[in-house]
Amino acid sequence: MNERTRRAFGVDIGGSGVKGAPVDLTTGELLADVVTIPTPKPATPDAVAATVAQLVNDAGWDGPVGVTLPCVVAGGQAQSAANVDPAWIGTDARKLFSSVLDGRDVSVLNDADAAGLAEAHFGAGKGTSGFVLMLTFGTGIGSALLHNGALLPNSELGHLEIDGREAEHRAAASVKTREQLSFEDWAAEVDLVLKRIEALLWPDLFIAGGGISAEHEKWIPLLTARSPVVPAQLRNTAGIVGAAMAAATGVTP
Ligand code: BGC
Repeated sequence: MNERTRRAFGVDIGGSGVKGAPVDLTTGELLADVVTIPTPKPATPDAVAATVAQLVNDAGWDGPVGVTLPCVVAGGQAQSAANVDPAWIGTDARKLFSSVLDGRDVSVLNDADAAGLAEAHFGAGKGTSGFVLMLTFGTGIGSALLHNGALLPNSELGHLEIDGREAEHRAAASVKTREQLSFEDWAAEVDLVLKRIEALLWPDLFIAGGGISAEHEKWIPLLTARSPVVPAQLRNTAGIVGAAMAAATGVTP
């Protein structure tokens, strides 16, 4: 990496907040505190783009920028919108963010893919070779497939159907809250999801992320999946770090 690409600004777009910080890509550490701006309502592409520009400009940043979206992102375009404003579908996100950031290059990728990249390189998957599968448990379930640190983007395992219901409708963290499930009952649903995934794929390691991974002692020990399951380590900064990694390499799936 040259001087320019050793640092990049990562922006993570979530349902409640748009968070950003500059990242040192040799260590994965943040170079400044995370700044969060509430996600505009409705979270239309133009409104969110204005928020991203505000974050980056307020930080006085003029280097590479990476941005996550909770969408399938192919060729810089958002292609799905499961838990986000439907106006994103078909939006050329890379072009939109670039236009509000004075035409500079911007990389855009799926939120779980960004978290997976960061965890595989700097977090819970650091030093693990082989197939790492990250799942993020939040409003939905995001997934990231990595082999020896390389990402296979847009896996969308949260939409895997299990006995007629999508995985994220069974086992997202939002389901636990909404249905007031105990950790035992919710972990049984997570277990179903992991086992369904394991019927199709043979990961060497699962990394469990999302806010609920902070309480991992209450549910990860209840899981009976074949592969080991470890909690994410970077917590709420994984998306920012992964977005910055994508920006530094100029990768947009
Ligand atoms: C979306 C994914 C996203 C995940 C987590 C799912 O509903 O389809 O693209 O990664 O939620 O935000």
